[in-house]
Amino acid sequence: MDVIVAGDRAGLVKARRTLSIGPGGATLALVPTMGALHEGHRSLIRLARERADHVAVSVFVNPLQFGPGEDFSRYPRTFDGDLETCADEGVSVVFAPSAEDMYAPGRQVGVSAGPMGAVVEGEFRPGHLDGVLTVVLKLFNLIRPDVAVFGRKDAQQLAVIRRMVADLDVPVTVVGAPTVREADGLALSSRNRYLSPHDRHAALALSRALLAGAGRRTPAEIRRAARDVLEAEPGLSVDYLVLVDPATFTEVGDDHRGEAVLAVAGRVGSTRLIDNVTVGL
Ligand code: PAF
Repeated sequence: MDVIVAGDRAGLVKARRTLSIGPGGATLALVPTMGALHEGHRSLIRLARERADHVAVSVFVNPLQFGPGEDFSRYPRTFDGDLETCADEGVSVVFAPSAEDMYAPGRQVGVSAGPMGAVVEGEFRPGHLDGVLTVVLKLFNLIRPDVAVFGRKDAQQLAVIRRMVADLDVPVTVVGAPTVREADGLALSSRNRYLSPHDRHAALALSRALLAGAGRRTPAEIRRAARDVLEAEPGLSVDYLVLVDPATFTEVGDDHRGEAVLAVAGRVGSTRLIDNVTVGL
């Protein structure tokens, strides 16, 4: 069956009707994206297909989650290729609204990520996670999926989305999907296409640092091992390296037991990349 492309709300209503999605009918899983789909997105779509009768992929470069001076205008837009990827992966609906359709003039109300939105990524990208939550809640309200699948590479994004769903009683099941990596360890990202071969080499220090940290036992050893790798790479400018509680993104102490997320962000050239691993303590 061909992919149904819905460009606006009316298109979505029609798609749900065509596919008999709704109470007593077929179920729907959503994979929210900003397009520029790669192998990582394919893995999210495959997981979504296991969880529902139909999969919807949203393709929307959300202006609200980019700060001044960030890469909103140069963010890769590859809609024709994205559509082919979706058709190839058996996606039923692609929702690709315009910015005008998503954000009506006079818009005033948005979602706040609260204290979790001000730490780690939030410290370097103020307002970013508020922008993510606002668009994700709108996508949930418009598309009304039973399940939504997000990549664990954006671990803090996933944590705040889970928090929003719990705190605001949003009727959707959130599923986290494993990070997909290149053979050399680089986590897949739409932004990897900005990297020159030289930048790409420097970027590998991110995953190498996480691997070094994950092999240690205590929080102090984990942080030190990861920091040593990052400091040895002159081509990388580190924004943060943190070991945090997966649910709150606050730094864990030496007495922490259970899981923690070792997360890193850095810039190579003009490209900012993030990565993380979960470690057991
Ligand atoms: O992870 C992304 O691609 C975006 O942050 C998301 C979840 C699609 C919201 O714009």
